[in-house]
Amino acid sequence: GWRRRVRSRVLRWYDQNGRKLPWRESADPYRIWVSEIMLQQTTVAAVVPYFDRFIDRFPDVQALANARQEQVLKLWEGLGYYSRARNLHKAAGIVATEFDGQFPQTADELKQLPGIGPYTAGAIASFAFNQPAPIVEANTLRLYSRLIELDIDPRGTQGQKKLWKFAAWIVSRKRAADFNQAVMDIGSQVCRPVDPQCPKCPLMPSCKALEAGRQAEIPLEKKK
Ligand code: ADE
Repeated sequence: GWRRRVRSRVLRWYDQNGRKLPWRESADPYRIWVSEIMLQQTTVAAVVPYFDRFIDRFPDVQALANARQEQVLKLWEGLGYYSRARNLHKAAGIVATEFDGQFPQTADELKQLPGIGPYTAGAIASFAFNQPAPIVEANTLRLYSRLIELDIDPRGTQGQKKLWKFAAWIVSRKRAADFNQAVMDIGSQVCRPVDPQCPKCPLMPSCKALEAGRQAEIPLEKKK
C-alpha cells in the first residue's frame, strides 16, 4: 500500500543520500540530546563546531551535571538562546541524580525534563532508542503537509493534531531512527520551502500536493 511504499522510498533514499553528521555517528542519547537542543534554533552548519567542542569538554551527562553553569554558558557563547544551555545543564543534573545517569527511554518520560518538548522527546526516543516515536518540526511539518495535501493551517491546533497523528502512523517500525533522520533531510534539502525539488524527491510518486499541483501553496499560511 501507500504507507509501505513511502517507508521504503524514504529509507532507500537515506541509505544513498543521508548526511553524515557528527551526532548520527552514535546512538548515545546524551549526544543526540545535546545536538537536538543546539539544532532547535540554529542551522546544522553553525551547530557542528559547537557540538564537537561541547562533547570534547562534557563527554557525558555526568560531566555536564558536574560543571558550573558559567562553564556551560561559556561554551554556548555565539549560539544564542541561552535558556537552552541553562535548561540543558539543569536537565543533566536531574538525569544524573534522579535517573542514576541513565536517560529515560520513552518520549513521555523525556518530556518531563526541562527544555525537552514533544519534538525533542520524539527525536531522542527514535534516534537513540529506535522507538517508532513521531517527530514534527519545521522540515517534517512541510514535507508531511505536502505529502498528505494538508488543507488547514499546519501550525494550528487541528493541523498539529493531524500532523502528529500522521507522523506516528507513517514512521517505520523497524528503522525508526533512520526513517526520522531521513524525513528531516528530505524536508530540508529536497522539499524546500520555496522552489521544492520535486523531480529529485523520492516521494514524488506518493505526494498528494504534487499530484494536485499544489506543492507551492502547501503548507498553508495562517490567515492574517
Ligand atoms: N535539525 C534538527 N535535528 C536534526 C538532525 N538530527 N539532523 C539534521 N537536522 C536537524
